[in-house]
Amino acid sequence: MSDIRTLGEFIVEKQHDFPHASGELSSLLSSIKLAAKIVNREINKAGLVDITGAFGGENVQGEEQQKLDVYANDKFKAALEARDQVCGVASEEEDEAVSFNKELSQNAKYVVLMDPLDGSSNIDVNVSVGTIFSVYRRVSPVGTPATEEDFLQPGNQQVAAGYIIYGSSTMLVYTTGNGVHGFTYDPSLGVFCLSHESLQTPEDGRIYSINEGNYFRFPMGVKKYIKFCQENVPEDDRPYTSRYIGSLVSDFHRNLLKGGIYLYPSTATHPNGKLRLLYECNPMAFLIEQAGGKASDGVGRIMDIKPTELHQRVPFFVGSTNMVEKVEAFLAEFP
Ligand code: AHG
Ligand code: MN
Ligand code: MN
Ligand code: MN
Repeated sequence: MSDIRTLGEFIVEKQHDFPHASGELSSLLSSIKLAAKIVNREINKAGLVDITGAFGGENVQGEEQQKLDVYANDKFKAALEARDQVCGVASEEEDEAVSFNKELSQNAKYVVLMDPLDGSSNIDVNVSVGTIFSVYRRVSPVGTPATEEDFLQPGNQQVAAGYIIYGSSTMLVYTTGNGVHGFTYDPSLGVFCLSHESLQTPEDGRIYSINEGNYFRFPMGVKKYIKFCQENVPEDDRPYTSRYIGSLVSDFHRNLLKGGIYLYPSTATHPNGKLRLLYECNPMAFLIEQAGGKASDGVGRIMDIKPTELHQRVPFFVGSTNMVEKVEAFLAEFP
């Protein structure tokens, strides 16, 4: 097994892809790696320790926070603050962006946005969940507190993005704009090992992921697309397959590897869609584009949207290019 390439080695090896690389982004990614190991350890004990169930509070989204939402949020925030590469974080579980007050942090040049625990509804039933992160260079002056402008940048300004999937095995998948690379955690060694280098997603697929329970209020174009998947058997005779896990990270990861599309359109309860632009859609959009796929709000490129607020929601269609473009065509014809 001497050909193991750990995440740490890979980050250092690849940092030379970065002009003027000074190791700060490498150190930032390493702090995410550490927090991922800590959260993974708790998730693997969920059910045996008091880490499942409701925390007893509500987040700014109006969602009942799960204990693991809060635990993961605290661990990732602490790991990012400890390494002095980040001047602030924004999180699904924080009402406002958090500026780190340490002097060293205020001299840092990056900000991180995160969904610390994605798929919270799956925690208590032992179905896979994830963490999503997105990294930008700050736009406010170094040496001052992070400002909201640092977090309201379009996704096309991201310098790194990725996710951890706590599934049958735990994986960390990330990009810094030079391809998408996947690492599988080996708990016996305590390291993430390179397992999927330079991932590319098929330009077409058979898997569509959507919560059809919301069908009644879907836009007509989405209804037409679902019917298209159900009634069209492609030329190779392999029909479409509906797969929906309830965790964006898990549905995204499967579709990334096999080809497919994840759809969260506007619905009765979420007229702008449910997924959050800054810490769910943009990082996944960066990853899928780096893997040769596409991410759209049904009309245009997700990463070109200029954010106006931290927790804003957008309709989200992400995956194999041909499938996303098919949905866009139906939405153009049947808005
Ligand atoms: P989170 O658990 O971070 O709030 O995100 C849940 C998201 C996404 O992960 C998942 O695909 C979607 O919500 C499921 O929504 P529905 O239960 O409405 O289908
Ligand atoms: Mn949530
Ligand atoms: Mn989420
Ligand atoms: Mn979440």
